[in-house]
Amino acid sequence: MAAGVLLAVVSGCSAGAGSGESNQPDKVEVFSWWEGPGEKEGYDALIGYFQSVNPDIEFVNATVAGGAGSNARAVLASRLEADDPPDSYQVHAGLEQTSDIKAGKLEELTYLYEQNGWKSKFPKALLDAITIGGKIYSVPVTIHRSNLLWYNVKAMKKAGIATPPTTWSDFLKTANTLKAKKIVPLSIGPGWTQKHLLENVLLGELGAARYTGLWNGKTSWLAPEVRAAMVMFGEVLADSDIKTFGGDWQSALDKVIDGTAAYTVMGDWADAYLGRTKGLTFKTDYDAVVSPGTSGVFNFLSDAFTLAKGAPHRAAGEKWLAACAAPDGQDLLSEQKRSLPARLDSDKSKYTDYLATALSAWQDPATVTVGSATHGVAVDTRRSAEIDTALAAFVQDGGIDRFLKSVAAAYAGYQPADPGK
Ligand code: GAL
Repeated sequence: MAAGVLLAVVSGCSAGAGSGESNQPDKVEVFSWWEGPGEKEGYDALIGYFQSVNPDIEFVNATVAGGAGSNARAVLASRLEADDPPDSYQVHAGLEQTSDIKAGKLEELTYLYEQNGWKSKFPKALLDAITIGGKIYSVPVTIHRSNLLWYNVKAMKKAGIATPPTTWSDFLKTANTLKAKKIVPLSIGPGWTQKHLLENVLLGELGAARYTGLWNGKTSWLAPEVRAAMVMFGEVLADSDIKTFGGDWQSALDKVIDGTAAYTVMGDWADAYLGRTKGLTFKTDYDAVVSPGTSGVFNFLSDAFTLAKGAPHRAAGEKWLAACAAPDGQDLLSEQKRSLPARLDSDKSKYTDYLATALSAWQDPATVTVGSATHGVAVDTRRSAEIDTALAAFVQDGGIDRFLKSVAAAYAGYQPADPGK
């Protein structure tokens, strides 16, 4: 018995080598914002897959609800600040990661890509987005499309609208018809959904090249065409329920479902809420087209998971990342969450209805791919916060020039070689 106690003490010490309970392989804590309807279902499927291949590891599900990580980010930041990291946390592919990388919060994961041959499994555009300073720090699980306009098929018919608008000027014309029928032309949600709309109005009005230039310093925020695009954004917002919105992205879709609003601009996770949570039928009950002015363009974003520096259960964290990278994990997640798999070699037969359209657009060599600003691909966290502040002021008082000056100031001295600076 004494020998048994001694053994337990010794193995407890070695497992804890330097960091409390650290490196026990039987537990992993993962932090994410996939908690709300339309995203929890997919996340649960991925967790279920992880548990099926790692039945001995306890999964600790740390989620903070709020679309696009709007609430999760602050909670995560304070945990990282307090040196209390989860083992793995959700991020977007892209420049959003730069601040955590610079602050030394993320483990480099290039070795996992080399050990597992993952580099050949992901598309180049995505590998480019997750390679920061020549290194990789995350494992992508999804591809989502940001530039979509969702609508209620029956309500549109009832309102006498044959086809959804293909330009924002078209939208403004349709909006007059809708308002005359007491239908809100566009429903909107909290700040991040307003930014999501903004990026897609800018994309629609400026085109892919100038849109991309906004985020890499090549398009001046003070150019006259950018101002004109902001005038359009202001007019579009005036035809939305910005003064009375409540809730998150799901609430904006609820108004489209009940026919009180005609359209909403949202990423394709909307398909999970409409088709899965609400049990509606694609094409019969609801449909989506690319947001006005963005034909042939795929505004992409990707969800990814990381390994935190100082992860208390590093070995289990690596197993979680392996499940994230696995074709089955990605297919199970995507089927529910209505995302495309980040990997190239997924089971295509599983991508039906809306996802079949999305998959063919994503894989069509003629498609022009741009990165989402709101969802981390194209903008680092510092500039993102400055845009949030400027946008909140714009929504309050419609001051276009102040908005443009603030964002232009945030981009002054932008250095492509050091985009997080
Ligand atoms: C995005 C995220 C999506 C979805 C959405 C709404 O930022 O990448 O997967 O969760 O927010 O929360």
